[in-house]
Amino acid sequence: MSQPVTPVRVVQLSDFHLFADPASTMLGLNTQHSLETVLRLVRAEQPDMRAILATGDLSQDGSEASYTRLKKALRAFGVPVYWLEGNHDETHPMRAMLADEAGRVSPCVGTVDGWRVIMLDSTIPGQVPGELFDRDLVFLEQALMESRDHHVMICLHHHPVPMGSRWLDEQQVANSDAFFRIIDRHPQVRAVLWGHVHQEYESRRKNVRLLSVPSTCVQFKPHSADFALDQCNPGYRWLDLYPDGRIESGVSRVQGMHFTVDLTVNGY
Ligand SMILES: [Fe+2]
Repeated sequence: MSQPVTPVRVVQLSDFHLFADPASTMLGLNTQHSLETVLRLVRAEQPDMRAILATGDLSQDGSEASYTRLKKALRAFGVPVYWLEGNHDETHPMRAMLADEAGRVSPCVGTVDGWRVIMLDSTIPGQVPGELFDRDLVFLEQALMESRDHHVMICLHHHPVPMGSRWLDEQQVANSDAFFRIIDRHPQVRAVLWGHVHQEYESRRKNVRLLSVPSTCVQFKPHSADFALDQCNPGYRWLDLYPDGRIESGVSRVQGMHFTVDLTVNGY
């Protein structure tokens, strides 16, 4: 009789937008409180997760206090945490507060069982949209060359494909053609994950799964031409990574709570 194949479970959390002051709000929502509700959900639902992927916009004000608080909250799960920089993050305090001996701050490569996770920095200093500079593409190519014998997931902050939302699609990774040209040369790539869009999304490009995740705070309305908030609750994504390269994944959102957001605001 064949043995059951056990996947390794990882969790993606994104777009925390924390402030130095835990009482601060963004678009009318207390981002510290909404994060705590999502982390309670993760604690209840994910006793066996093996890693956390934090895909950017960790802080809204770039404060040391916000990074320190987030590090403490995620490290409390006792699993490796891999960190990506988002357009709202401040490089120096982020790296100073989150860097550890294992080097799990983007750009970096992690190993979770037989899988490799590549955290690729898609930010442009001082700007909102995404782009992969030559050095990022070289890092990706090198990381994939060194991961030929593994299944690979690549995490970005920005979306590499259009989301069907005009205002967000102006912020898409500018040179995603170059990104996908590299991926096309490496059939071990199984998925690309991102944050930034504050909404759940799933599609496929050739054999590669394309996945985004809700924010742990405010949600953006899918397919809206202009900036608009959605009223669905914050959440996270879980992924089961199988030894044969298969992925099962889903999104879980906080239930039974109402979060107030200011729907009249037209930007953030
Ligand atoms: Fe964000």
